Amino acid sequence: MSEYDSLIAAARAARENAHAPYSNFRVGAALRSSSGRVFGGCNVENSTYGLTVCAERVAIFKAISEGERGFEAIAIVTGAEKLTPPCGACRQLIWEFCGDVPVVIANLQGAVEVHRMSALFPKPFDASNL
Ligand code: THU
Repeated sequence: MSEYDSLIAAARAARENAHAPYSNFRVGAALRSSSGRVFGGCNVENSTYGLTVCAERVAIFKAISEGERGFEAIAIVTGAEKLTPPCGACRQLIWEFCGDVPVVIANLQGAVEVHRMSALFPKPFDASNL
């Protein structure tokens, strides 16, 4: 049991909806807002490949478009034995909207790691640079 079990379960459920016919790499994410709501996201691929959107960004955009601001944690689940950290583009977006949150990476086999965003993304470009 960990404080992130329910968030991991939400990411795992979101992964079920992944549209990943090109890579067959199915990803689920779940984002917990400060108000306690959880927003799931899955990767949504496209035949052009480049228009693919990662699970993390889908979850973030769902939450932001629902009016949520302020987030506590994000979980990412794949079926890969090697745990899947967020890609560079998603790190930029997670930093923008979530700041130094815990990033919970887990797989279907039950492995879990927690990393803070400041460790994954140590020298960001953000609003403080403008
Ligand atoms: N992907 C994600 O959704 N999140 C990640 O953290 C890594 C990569 C997706 C993008 C693409 O659909 C597939 O995984 C393979 O790169």
